[in-house]
Amino acid sequence: MSEKVFPKDFMWGAATASYQIEGSPLVDGAGSSIWHRFSHTPGNTYNGDTGDVADDHYNKYKEDIALMKELGLKAYRFSISWPRIFPYGKGKINEKGVDFYNRLVDELLKANITPFVTLYHWDLPAALQDLGGWTNRDIAYWYTDYADYMFQRFGDRVKNWITLNEPWVMAFVGHFMGEHAPGMKDLYASFSAVHNQLRAHSKTVKAFREENIKEGKIGITLSNTSHDPAADSQEDIDAARLAHEWSNYPLFLNPIYKGDYPKGIKEHASEFLPHNYENDLEEIKEKIDFVGINYYSGDLVKADTKSFLGGKNVERGLPKTEMGWEIYPEGFYKILKGVQEEYNPKEVYVTENGAAFDDKVVNQEVHDEKRIEYLKQHLEQALKAIQNGVTLKGYFAWSLLDNFEWAWGYSKRFGIVYVDYKTQKRIIKDSGKWYSQVIKNNSFEF
Ligand code: NOJ
Repeated sequence: MSEKVFPKDFMWGAATASYQIEGSPLVDGAGSSIWHRFSHTPGNTYNGDTGDVADDHYNKYKEDIALMKELGLKAYRFSISWPRIFPYGKGKINEKGVDFYNRLVDELLKANITPFVTLYHWDLPAALQDLGGWTNRDIAYWYTDYADYMFQRFGDRVKNWITLNEPWVMAFVGHFMGEHAPGMKDLYASFSAVHNQLRAHSKTVKAFREENIKEGKIGITLSNTSHDPAADSQEDIDAARLAHEWSNYPLFLNPIYKGDYPKGIKEHASEFLPHNYENDLEEIKEKIDFVGINYYSGDLVKADTKSFLGGKNVERGLPKTEMGWEIYPEGFYKILKGVQEEYNPKEVYVTENGAAFDDKVVNQEVHDEKRIEYLKQHLEQALKAIQNGVTLKGYFAWSLLDNFEWAWGYSKRFGIVYVDYKTQKRIIKDSGKWYSQVIKNNSFEF
């Protein structure tokens, strides 16, 4: 049995993001965000859903922290909404926004829960979008000023910081596919958003070092899908590799650790990279303390000369979650092992992993067996990764609460805690009870 046990001090947590749970997006002097605008524009989200109320966490944070305590969480990953602090993105500070996160952080520490703060989880101040948002080079300065201010206000109590959440999704789903805010469809804008996010990230890491926060650590959270070749042919292998370099950790970690974009990107997409991007590479190569890995799913890639980057996804008959995403735990191991082999980060955290299922309340209980199975299978792979040399220090389930799943609105539930959106009542799902045993035993076999 002993091999089923996680390392001592393993950081067990759950994650959320500001726009997805807080609600009250414009109260107490907060400015509008691009997600507020996007969700209020007809046709952009399922059912016209918005984050206006969400989980009402802005008012219910104490109750939610009590739930975290009941679950036995050791850590909680949440994000700060930039426009609550700087309503116009820069300049005027909104003290009431700072107050909210002060109350939240203090309550977490009182409950003995370690805060992991994401500085940017997609809710850009709308005023900055009017200046070009992530496509404007100046955003590297706007973002760093905001982040540095957060270090000054919270650095005495918050020691673990994440600069950006899933910059690939921000860049491509938001600027090329048009499915997320700001709703653009321009591949050049996407690559400029990639590059400017990297510049913003590295300038912020530098500012963080200068603040000299005692025991402070800083990293970045990246989205990942295990892209596997459909056949053993060189064409399929190349197409899967390119999909990996383009949409997984290499797109960001190659510049951060090795000072250049991945080879495949330069060969196939250099036209889209901003002019003179090379001049920024040295600055982007800035040491970080940990890499945050988000993992949900895999896909099978077949070479296809007609599609961008030469590959398309094909069906392989695996079971899927409510999102239509393949359940592929082996891919989780591949991603974790891959990141260690390719970039050898000092520490790795799984900053998100989880699944949406069609949960039903039965007598005030939610029997989400499928989610328990999903989490168990993925934790098995995480443990295997640790046993095979991955410096994995913690795991955050996505998500603590059912919440606003972006363009899908409230139609997809990822929580280990159920939220009844009519009454705002929370019910710990069976998966939440199971996860709390995992934390207690530091093992998923009991
Ligand atoms: C990753 C994102 O960071 C999070 O906001 C989202 O809800 C989950 N994936 C599930 O799609």
